[in-house]
Amino acid sequence: MMETAVIQRQYDSVISLQYDQDPQFTTGRSLDRAIRHLDADGLLDPDSQPLRVLDVGMGTGMFLEKLRLQSARQIAPSGLDISEQMAALAVRKLPDLVVAIDDGANLDRHFGQSEFDLVATHFVTGFVELEKLAADVFKKLAPGGCWSFVGGTTAGYAELQRRARHPLLRMLFGSNGVALQGMICPESEDQVTRLLSNAGFEIRVSETFEPELKFEDFSSFMEYGYHGGWLTPFIEDIGLQNASRWQQALLNRIVFPVTDHHSIVLAVARKPL
Ligand SMILES: C[S@@+](CC[C@H](N)C(=O)[O-])C[C@H]1O[C@@H](n2cnc3c(N)ncnc32)[C@H](O)[C@@H]1O
Repeated sequence: MMETAVIQRQYDSVISLQYDQDPQFTTGRSLDRAIRHLDADGLLDPDSQPLRVLDVGMGTGMFLEKLRLQSARQIAPSGLDISEQMAALAVRKLPDLVVAIDDGANLDRHFGQSEFDLVATHFVTGFVELEKLAADVFKKLAPGGCWSFVGGTTAGYAELQRRARHPLLRMLFGSNGVALQGMICPESEDQVTRLLSNAGFEIRVSETFEPELKFEDFSSFMEYGYHGGWLTPFIEDIGLQNASRWQQALLNRIVFPVTDHHSIVLAVARKPL
């Protein structure tokens, strides 16, 4: 797991202001797919009771806002995030959002005895340990409630990782510079569904979404990877945000332009009645 204080600073001061620009719409497209899965499972059908939703690592509230716009059922939103700046943006979009600011590892200390019909964890694996999260999500859900899981896998960015193994780049940025493992996990859809099943959930649907990514040059990569938040810890680890002009020119010769893809697992898992 990455160091929590570092992640908090990065979201507060590097990522929050640009997060909603969602370069290449990777986040927005994934969240729309997640909502379609929930809708297909009947979770968003009209009901006299609002859907009680808890979004763990809700960020700027992109999912909750989309859900509210797309759901036929009213939404009662709650969210937890480690970044005050991200949460402040979420509250602007959802003034009725019940917010907790904390590490997701402490989820069980928040929201009292409230039970939820839906718990979302979207793009927070790598930040919060998945086994622990699974147990905590299970406890927060009402019987029959659903977990919406969305997370990138280590199969993402294969072409970028291949090009980063160029000997010149290893010399410049260190031989560990290419290792994204630890930043992105889990490994596969199989691993996710196994883990969710082992935690007592019934898998309703799962898929691997592989959106294409195009990086014209170093600066379009930084817009996505650094300010967009996708690879910020990795980029800071190797100091890529301080790359000099000649280093950028070299990267533009050796690595870019590049067409790649991410690999994102989506699953809806139900807590048995
Ligand atoms: C990639 S963003 C995803 C935001 C949102 N779920 C979405 O799909 O747009 C990751 C979010 O997790 C939050 N986060 C990172 N580490 C966390 C932790 N240990 N506990 C709680 N939230 C965390 C960040 O502040 C950020 O808002």
